[in-house]
Amino acid sequence: MPDIATYVLNDGSTLPAVGFGTYPLTGEDGTAAIVRALEAGYRLLDTAVNYENEAEVGEAIRRSGLPRDQVLVASKIPGRHHAYDDAIASVRASLERLGIDRTDLHLIHWPNPGQGKYVEAWRALVQLQKDGLVRSIGVSNFTEEHLTRIIDDTGVTPAVNQIELHPRFPQVQMREVHDRLGIRTEAWSPMGKRRAPLEETAVISAAETHGVSPGQVILRWHVELGSLPIPKSADPRRQVENLDVFGFELTDDEMSAISALAEDDGRLFGGDPDSHEEM
Ligand SMILES: NC(=O)c1ccc[n+]([C@@H]2O[C@H](COP(=O)([O-])OP(=O)(O)OC[C@H]3O[C@@H](n4cnc5c(N)ncnc54)[C@H](OP(=O)(O)O)[C@@H]3O)[C@@H](O)[C@H]2O)c1
Repeated sequence: MPDIATYVLNDGSTLPAVGFGTYPLTGEDGTAAIVRALEAGYRLLDTAVNYENEAEVGEAIRRSGLPRDQVLVASKIPGRHHAYDDAIASVRASLERLGIDRTDLHLIHWPNPGQGKYVEAWRALVQLQKDGLVRSIGVSNFTEEHLTRIIDDTGVTPAVNQIELHPRFPQVQMREVHDRLGIRTEAWSPMGKRRAPLEETAVISAAETHGVSPGQVILRWHVELGSLPIPKSADPRRQVENLDVFGFELTDDEMSAISALAEDDGRLFGGDPDSHEEM
């Protein structure tokens, strides 16, 4: 079993430095892929109401035979559940589908600023944490402005902000904001999806030097930035390799060459943030 580093969050709890993304793993094949991920050693599973696979995640944990307290489950409140009572009900319904009595991390999936109710959803998460229904609370796809608003309103800083982050989009500005506020950066689409730089010289030459795959180089780049990537893979071989990133270190030059693949223009998303409202 790989030795996985951990991060201590601002609420004192810990998360493994690499988690497992479960979108779009659904149905029996999805459950089987998540069981394989647990067998490979992943101990943090990232799901969401909108992935429609919370039942599969819960089933995979039970099928793995692992004690519940050894697997951390993160889920997310969707945009349509931001009103206070809806957010409380949303988390309760997620717990029901997962078949567990507490999530280890619960996030607001998107701020949906046009709707303007993310502060209500945050107040609900603060209450749910007090009530013991969620361990750590955080957000996803929040800008500095959104973060400031919820912190000013409640006095509670999110433990995590899960944002799009990969070598094409290294999020220098948001990572600085997170460092200043004491928020852990979690990375979605950590490989970069269609823009994954798996064939770029900077990545391939580091892979050859360290005797690892291009995917492992990208995930190691995350770890050295202090980002917590949640790669998704349905492939057993890639699942294993994506977790095996703690046995080598990239040099400063290798890190810089990979960061130089950025096509970042300072925005939070690859596209227009306001077009990223979700339901
Ligand atoms: N908060 C949000 O708004 C948000 C948005 C998007 C995603 N997410 C979360 O983030 C997770 C990961 O994001 P993602 O799935 O978009 O992107 P990703 O994990 O960066 O990329 C997944 C893709 O890369 C392939 N892949 C995985 N490991 C590889 C490797 N070592 N070498 C080559 N290819 C590899 C996978 O194919 P195979 O399966 O064939 O290996 C899959 O097609 C999601 O599952 C979800 O949990 C959150």
